[in-house]
Amino acid sequence: MSLAAVFHDRMLSLGLARVSEAAALASARLIGRGDEKAADQAAVNAMRSQLDLLDIKGVVVIGEGERDEAPMLYIGEEVGNGNGPEVDIALDPLEGTTLTAKDMPNALTVIAMAPRGTLLHAPDVYMDKLAVGPGYAPGVVTLDMSPGARVHALAKAKGCGPDNITVCVLERPRHEDMIAEIRETGAAIRLITDGDVAGVIHCAEASTGIDMYMGQGGAPEGVLAASALKCMGGQMQGRLVFRNDDERGRAAKAGIEDLDRTYTRDEMVTADVIFAATGVTDGSILAGIKREVGYLTAETILMRSKTGSVRRMSYRNPVK
Ligand code: FBP
Repeated sequence: MSLAAVFHDRMLSLGLARVSEAAALASARLIGRGDEKAADQAAVNAMRSQLDLLDIKGVVVIGEGERDEAPMLYIGEEVGNGNGPEVDIALDPLEGTTLTAKDMPNALTVIAMAPRGTLLHAPDVYMDKLAVGPGYAPGVVTLDMSPGARVHALAKAKGCGPDNITVCVLERPRHEDMIAEIRETGAAIRLITDGDVAGVIHCAEASTGIDMYMGQGGAPEGVLAASALKCMGGQMQGRLVFRNDDERGRAAKAGIEDLDRTYTRDEMVTADVIFAATGVTDGSILAGIKREVGYLTAETILMRSKTGSVRRMSYRNPVK
């Protein structure tokens, strides 16, 4: 029997939501406290202990870093209670550590699970990313097009002018030329200071008003974003970016031979995947953790690519 056949994604998905919720609830008391490391550590600890309650033989393929730099949830770490299918786990216990420390929008906890060997082992380097939502012909925009050409191609496919296109971009000096070129087309740009997993997901949620995401961000976050889009619909391309030999070495260690390869969404995530994210701070996709006297409430989005189902859950948890 193939591994995919024994991946009981329907049963496992609720457990995955609990893992994501636990991380968000744990980091809640550190929202707006100016301490990124403490917020991240709280989320890591909670995610790690919840993962071991799941009936899986899991291996972290996208995690907190290499074994020598991350005591928990390092790449290659085995998670789960061992009584279940062999799965790959991609996670970011706190996507947007700075957003959390400063109480800015769109900090999330994020986790994806897929059959063993089906998630790209992306090294900790940058990835050039391009994403659009569902409903467009395959290849409507590509990484090989210039930023301006992408806007024009998407506007044509959407049946509108470029001035009706909104592109989401991480605000970084490395994106200055790209931003200038997008502006020349007349398109609008939603600049975000951090959190490009949410940035990509925006494309698949019409209510956000974002049509396209582009720019360089973390490659691990790229695989998480591809997992989300595989559930929601939408296209994504990613190409690893190497700035030096150390980064090329990281790719070799991850088993990547073709350094110039462009990965499609389904080449980053080659089988069915489940994805859960919980809001830490308020955002355009999820509400952040809410406090009432005696309770914390968390909102989670839980999705399965097999069915295309998107479930939103609100979880009220007594504070002990
Ligand atoms: P952290 O949560 O680890 O701080 O990452 C946030 C983030 O904005 C990611 O969403 C994004 O992929 C990456 O950092 C961008 O990296 P950089 O800050 O180096 O431009």
